[in-house]
Amino acid sequence: MSADRDPWLLTPGPLTTSDSVKRAMLHDWGSRDRRFIAMNAEVRRRLVELAGAAETHVTVPIQGSGTFSVEAMLTTLMPREGKLLILVNGAYGKRMAKICSYAGRAHVIYETAEDTPPDVAEVKRRLAADPAITHVAAVYCETTSGILNPIAEIAAAVKAAGRSLLIDAMSAFGALPIDAASVPFDALAASSNKCLEGVPGMGFVLIRKSVLERCAGNAPSLSLDLHDQWKAMEGNGQWRFTPPTHAIAAFHQALEEHAAEGGVEGRGRRYRDNCKILVDGMRALGFETLLPDALQAPIIVTFRMPADPRFRFQEFYDRLSAKGYVIYPGKLTVADSFRIGCIGRLGAPEMKDALAAIRATLRELGVESGAPARVAAE
Ligand SMILES: Cc1ncc(COP(=O)(O)O)c(C=O)c1O
Repeated sequence: MSADRDPWLLTPGPLTTSDSVKRAMLHDWGSRDRRFIAMNAEVRRRLVELAGAAETHVTVPIQGSGTFSVEAMLTTLMPREGKLLILVNGAYGKRMAKICSYAGRAHVIYETAEDTPPDVAEVKRRLAADPAITHVAAVYCETTSGILNPIAEIAAAVKAAGRSLLIDAMSAFGALPIDAASVPFDALAASSNKCLEGVPGMGFVLIRKSVLERCAGNAPSLSLDLHDQWKAMEGNGQWRFTPPTHAIAAFHQALEEHAAEGGVEGRGRRYRDNCKILVDGMRALGFETLLPDALQAPIIVTFRMPADPRFRFQEFYDRLSAKGYVIYPGKLTVADSFRIGCIGRLGAPEMKDALAAIRATLRELGVESGAPARVAAE
């Protein structure tokens, strides 16, 4: 087996995109051209609709990777005298704390282990105990492990406590449901290149309009000021600064394909199928997932490192990559691990091919089982 095609990206992103999404980038767009402005407006409209939020929220797009959108969200939404409670169970929760430190925003964290969702009763307790907390930040799917956090329960608790919820839905939006009417949030950040299957280069934040109207002057950064970006875009339909025109054209095409697949439900179904094929196939080879199935989001799966000393991750990775399958190292503190993603423009045939490549690679390495140390010792 050798790769005579682009690699299939079994990663948390950037991801494999369709040929038609790639082809959408073969044109140049004038940023002030009426056709570009209409395309941009349609992208914004479709994104709020995906969260059932067309009446209540607006989409504010922003150049850059996902972190730019998260930083823009936190620093635009939080007033300088605000205080943020951050629910942390992985690298992306920690990154939000780092953003607050850079921006000089008061924050406290409630941290659980990377394989443990936050206890909503504890969230309620912390909100009741500290009236200075104005906002809560949560990660929907913590891509560090692939864990699904209980976003609906968190949203209900935050609303009941009269605080404002800011969600990092980077690796969930477009495939895992979120409906603004039943999961109340003031802002939600995501990007073009994960479950929506566009190319990297831009993110966006869905923001409750009545809240955004009060956010003038909060942001310490001009380029990340979402209030300013929104005001300008509402005024003339244009981005304040050079828009990533090709990424927007690709995103527009990707959103068409998302709708054609059946929207969030259809996209989520394909990813769940991918995830099941992957997990069943890997378990058949002896591998063990970090998370129990009930906590596993169908986005990216963490596998414990096999005990067999012939399994050296770098060699496994390199051999798979040479065959055209790119996987991802682990980022966990709780266990030595690696990750395989199930999102992007991949379906059942590609997941089965990936498993065949994994089987072949284990044979080449002389590894008989993917069982981790604990299981091997039993
Ligand atoms: C949950 C989550 N938040 C934030 C980010 C940061 O996005 P980026 O790496 O595009 O800056 C990621 C990236 O994988 C993510 O999964």
